[in-house]
Amino acid sequence: MGPFIEEGMTVLDLGCGPGFFTLDMAQMVGTSGHVIAADLQDGMLQIIGSKIRGTEVADRVTLHKCDEHGISLSETVDFVLAFYMVHEIPDQQGLFAELATILKPNGRVLVVEPPFHVSKKAFETTVTTANEVGLTDLGRPRIFPNKVVLLGKALH
Ligand SMILES: C[S@@+](CC[C@H](N)C(=O)[O-])C[C@H]1O[C@@H](n2cnc3c(N)ncnc32)[C@H](O)[C@@H]1O
Repeated sequence: MGPFIEEGMTVLDLGCGPGFFTLDMAQMVGTSGHVIAADLQDGMLQIIGSKIRGTEVADRVTLHKCDEHGISLSETVDFVLAFYMVHEIPDQQGLFAELATILKPNGRVLVVEPPFHVSKKAFETTVTTANEVGLTDLGRPRIFPNKVVLLGKALH
């Protein structure tokens, strides 16, 4: 994520799980930045809560519970990491449409999917779905051996 995250950004770790990336993201955004760690599962957010409690990044990480309607976030973000989570979402069109509304004008979404579990065909269908709701394919960063796409808001 290094090339995509800068100090002062507001970033979303979507489907954060137990926070494998959340703490590194919190270091990258610095003292003026903000990380929203979002997941469907309360238990995952509790794990992150206990990891950050009492650390220097505690006050720049917000734990956010998604619900069955979606992410339901009220603020806009500069960057979204969706690591190994998109294939778990039944309504990918709804997910990407919501991400397009959450994203700031120059915001980016990095989708990383697992290499074997997600086929090339399924991954390309995911990218097409994102394109259809206003997120443009900006390239395919290499994060071996995963399937990766960088998305940004389509300019009208
Ligand atoms: C395979 S884990 C990946 C966790 C983390 N991103 C990582 O790479 O270590 C997928 C996570 O996505 C979460 N998830 C699944 N559907 C979700 C949804 N609709 N909204 C938010 N999180 C979701 C799951 O609860 C789970 O924690």
